[in-house]
Amino acid sequence: MCGIFGYVGTRDDAAQVVLAGLKKLEYRGYDSWGIAARQNGSALARLLVEKHTGKIGQATTSLPGGPSALGHTRWATHGGVTEANAHPHLDCQGRLAVIHNGIIENHTELRRELVAAGHTFTSQTDTEVVCHLMEDELRGSDSEEAIERSHGATVRSHEATRPSETGCERLIQALMRVFHRLDGLSAISVLDPQEQCIAAAKNGSPLVLGWGTDGNYLASDSSALLEHTRKLTFLEDGQAALIGTDFVKVYDAASGQPQAEVRIWDITWQEEVDSLHYMTKEINEQPLVLRRLAAERAGDAQQLADAIQQASTVHFVGCGSAANAARCGEYLFSRIASRQANCVVGSEFGYLADFLDARSLVVGLSQSGETIDLLESMKSARRRGAALAALVNVEGSSLYRLVDHSILLSAGPERCVLATKSFTAKLGVLLMAAYAAQGRLAEGQALLERAATEIQSFLSDGRVEQIRALAARIASSEHLYVIGRGPSYPMALEAALKIKEVSYIHAEGFAGGELKHGVIALVEPGTPCVVLAPNDETFYSILSGAEEIKARGGYIIGISPTPSDVWDEHIQVADVGEAASIVNAVPPQILAYELALHRGLDPDKPRNLAKSVTVK
Ligand code: AGP
Repeated sequence: MCGIFGYVGTRDDAAQVVLAGLKKLEYRGYDSWGIAARQNGSALARLLVEKHTGKIGQATTSLPGGPSALGHTRWATHGGVTEANAHPHLDCQGRLAVIHNGIIENHTELRRELVAAGHTFTSQTDTEVVCHLMEDELRGSDSEEAIERSHGATVRSHEATRPSETGCERLIQALMRVFHRLDGLSAISVLDPQEQCIAAAKNGSPLVLGWGTDGNYLASDSSALLEHTRKLTFLEDGQAALIGTDFVKVYDAASGQPQAEVRIWDITWQEEVDSLHYMTKEINEQPLVLRRLAAERAGDAQQLADAIQQASTVHFVGCGSAANAARCGEYLFSRIASRQANCVVGSEFGYLADFLDARSLVVGLSQSGETIDLLESMKSARRRGAALAALVNVEGSSLYRLVDHSILLSAGPERCVLATKSFTAKLGVLLMAAYAAQGRLAEGQALLERAATEIQSFLSDGRVEQIRALAARIASSEHLYVIGRGPSYPMALEAALKIKEVSYIHAEGFAGGELKHGVIALVEPGTPCVVLAPNDETFYSILSGAEEIKARGGYIIGISPTPSDVWDEHIQVADVGEAASIVNAVPPQILAYELALHRGLDPDKPRNLAKSVTVK
């Protein structure tokens, strides 16, 4: 789940361009980073490298100006967090720089083979095998001129700087041959400063090419490219690419042949302004996002409802927060449309899908559209003939391109690792679709509008300050529980996930009815317990559950339209009927944010996490 950014062109600040791109990708992994750049004006076209452990933050690069660079921000899978293990990695000659996102499953045997062949490794990463395999491949195919160059022989000046088409071709062909030898899901990029081009290959992990006017770019996701270009090509699995100052080529990695047709997308996303933390900015964007959905996505919701009504079985699938949203979908369709829809966790669906057939509909939910466990499950559903749909936030992502019908959440770029606006956006579409399935779409739209208004006032009338004060009182808690019944059960899971992810408090969500079956043993005097109590048929049963916890000394935080003596802290929310889950998602998001601040933590980049999980 690393971030990759590369540039080749006419600018002479390539290293700075790449650093800025990595800063936009840091939510994909932030335990270490590095950049390799071609030095300007050096007859030898030298490769200079800078690597650091820790977050990029406000770092600047000490690399000199130059026309090409390749960078990486890391989420460690193989090898600890050290400078040596940070990317890029070099071959024995220090001629090629390689960066990688994914896992090379057969790296141990490849390393053994390469060491036996005399290569020297400087890191514990799986990635480094690629450098040495490339070195061997290129040694095999190097022209006299290239060998002379790599061993520092002087070359007549004008020839030195003109990248040789053939040199770049050799690089990409070598990479495609090496890529065949790698098992697992990966995206790999190689910078050869002598040839002034970057070669790349992808299978599973995302890679996007940017067609610029001052050169060409590549990155792990489109949002990092938007400040440079809106003309993007999304590499498909099994494709490779070559970018140079004035060319972008796409290849079929299996045959090594260039693709005649290369699809270029014109991306419409607007870049958002920065603020204190992405998390609080994105929480505050929810009213706008929900209003936009009600206005622009009603037709899509109707289409989804029609597809659901025609299917024999329906399965909502997602990971993490998206799994909680999928479970909310199960309740919304049951309650509003009297329609059964199963919810299955994305990483488990593949083991549970043998019953799928051509009459099944599988709906994938994902912010990034790149979560590998979900993509694998969707592909296995497709192999069984099921129809596929998706609720996804990233236009052009792998999931967006994989399915038959994609509904764009249009929540705009979500940079905080925690899903907030993308979560409520998913619920907004599912709410409208559930009403549409009953021919009551307009009612669903109106309710979504109302939820947006209620969240707007919640964010601006002092209740945020109330939660800030609450966070200060409970910030030293080690454990915290969230309970909810019916449609509030998945919301309890989501609330606990937010608090866990960003404050590192051990928070757990439970179905309110499960309390007496074991959970209540965890309650001690002062244990904070958030109770989700909308004005629906679950209200009185969840209230008695809260009383049982209070009787054992628990500190009860009631999120409810209705005051009660049971609440030690009452966070008042509006009574919005079936949209309660959307409105009730917001107070726990704010509590999680404030708890993180009180515990001195970075809400945007929690430890050990990354925004999209692209390794299994
Ligand atoms: C949620 O806050 C987390 N970032 C994580 O659980 C996330 O929801 C999960 O990784 C799925 O990501 P996706 O929506 O991009 O597929």
